[in-house]
Amino acid sequence: MFSYTAEGMEYCLKCIECGREYSREDMYTCECGGLLEVLIKETKLSFKLDGNLKGVWKYKSLLPVKIEPVTLREGNTPLYRCKKIEDMLNVKVEVYVKHEGANPSGSFKDRGMTVGVTKAIELGKSAVACASTGNTSASMAMYAAKAGIKAYVLLPAGKVALGKVAQALMHGAKVIGIRGNFDQALKIVREVCRTEGFYLLNSVNPFRLEGQKTIAFEIADEIGVPDRIILPVGNAGNISAIYKGFKELVRFGLTDKIPKMTGIQAKGANPVFKAVKEGRDDIEAVKNPETVATAIRIGQPVNAKKAIRAIYESEGTAEEVSDDEIINAQKILASMEGIGVEPASAASIAGLIKLAEKDEIERGERIVCITTGHLLKDPETVIRVCGKPIEVDASVDAVKAVL
Ligand code: F0G
Repeated sequence: MFSYTAEGMEYCLKCIECGREYSREDMYTCECGGLLEVLIKETKLSFKLDGNLKGVWKYKSLLPVKIEPVTLREGNTPLYRCKKIEDMLNVKVEVYVKHEGANPSGSFKDRGMTVGVTKAIELGKSAVACASTGNTSASMAMYAAKAGIKAYVLLPAGKVALGKVAQALMHGAKVIGIRGNFDQALKIVREVCRTEGFYLLNSVNPFRLEGQKTIAFEIADEIGVPDRIILPVGNAGNISAIYKGFKELVRFGLTDKIPKMTGIQAKGANPVFKAVKEGRDDIEAVKNPETVATAIRIGQPVNAKKAIRAIYESEGTAEEVSDDEIINAQKILASMEGIGVEPASAASIAGLIKLAEKDEIERGERIVCITTGHLLKDPETVIRVCGKPIEVDASVDAVKAVL
């Protein structure tokens, strides 16, 4: 489909703390301990923002890989205008939902994994690994299967939605439940990757975030740059990636503004929200995170510093929402707009509703909410909050009696 290496592209890894640059690619953090990001120094742009979406690899001239990608046609997700939600709010704004649940594995993680697993192959790795609240593991297992390499997954036992575990298992990953939370699983898998030589595909991996920045590219491609992006924040990779995407569009002369990055967390797992409210540059970990939105049940987000910078630099904000607000927003989106999402994704809509109520949204704003994962990821929560279907005898009368 495309020819690789992306022509004329020059890039390196750069530390966001000390600024040190590395030409090596097989590393995740700087020697000073800081997070790394990919700095694209030069490239020959091979796409136009012409509204013609083709998926993640349309933007290959801003994606730092050197071989033919491992792809399952990720990206090119629908962007819906949500007029019923607009009518419901007490401020006149334009609301769009970018439904990332429409990716091949049902979440935005596929954008990162197509790049991350390609990088694993490029670096000659025969195994990839991650800790996950579910979606990362499902996506990684799928791309590892496509690439023909091994996948190892560490999950917080009993705290991952059923659909996600099913995907990781069926795609052939070795799935290990640990008696602990995501933050502990991430610490363990980082050590295991170091000693076993597995390629780590959590969002601390800067190449994975490169794939996820294409969410920004697709939005700009379809409707131009909006005033605000609202999205759920867990390990804080996606908000950092999308911000980087918008910044690159400006840097390479394709657009001229950056949307206000607005991160939403669950009340029981809210370290980024607290840091932003208190004007701090880093988080204090939440020791025992808890929320119905298990995807974002994270107390110590690894990308917190990148995310907080994205929020401050873009003049965005952070908000927290309760489990009830999340479920209510999930129902609104499903029943009024026909968009089925998992609880974590609904946090973006819950956040929009809350910010509008608090008068923190300006009249006339054009807002894009990112819904990160599909409804079918978490069927158990649906049954819990909607109840089981009615069961009746197999007769017309019995059915009529309950209509
Ligand atoms: N929404 C969903 C559906 C997710 O699965 C995640 C993260 C997020 C939002 C938050 O994104 O971490 O980049 O801030 N899920 C990870 C996982 C942690 O393991 O699947 P983030």
